[in-house]
Amino acid sequence: MNWEELERECLACRRCGLCETRRHVVFGVGARDAEVMFIGEGPGEQEDLKGEPFVGRAGKLLDDMLELIDLDRSRVYIANMVKCRPPNNRDPLNIEQEACALWLDRQVALLRPKIIVCLGRIAAMRWIRGDFKISREHGQWTIKNGVMTMALYHPAALLRDVSKRPDTFVDLTVLRQAIRDYCTHTYPS
Ligand code: URA
Repeated sequence: MNWEELERECLACRRCGLCETRRHVVFGVGARDAEVMFIGEGPGEQEDLKGEPFVGRAGKLLDDMLELIDLDRSRVYIANMVKCRPPNNRDPLNIEQEACALWLDRQVALLRPKIIVCLGRIAAMRWIRGDFKISREHGQWTIKNGVMTMALYHPAALLRDVSKRPDTFVDLTVLRQAIRDYCTHTYPS
């Protein structure tokens, strides 16, 4: 399956109840040959309206975080664990996460990123380890399915609690160094 086929199938998905209330499926954005992939939790209201991940307030902060390490959306790939908005921005249910997992798995299989960055606790618990503790383990590397993987605080958490921002600044510096060390075309030489 190629990207176009995957996106077409995903946009027509009816694997869980979220398809009844969504306005758009939020498939993902960025370079389809990106070496760095960011995984968020699921679309909020703005994302549901636009069909694009991280376009609300948290998304603006994510853009700033990328800019801090000389990146932008066109150099990375950004997707969510869950492609449709849970009503009232509740956490996605396990059954919804499970129904949706195949889309992200296929995106990762097509992209074959060198680095995966989970945004927030929910994505890290799903992608890295069920008992992942974001407050203790943010910014630490782990190898998951052969891919260097870390988690950052979710930008929405950084909006709620600015005291977490200095830690994230350090984590971003660690990320930038790893990109320099292990990626070949993310930063122009
Ligand atoms: N939060 C997420 O996790 N993903 C989005 O796309 C927007 C907000």
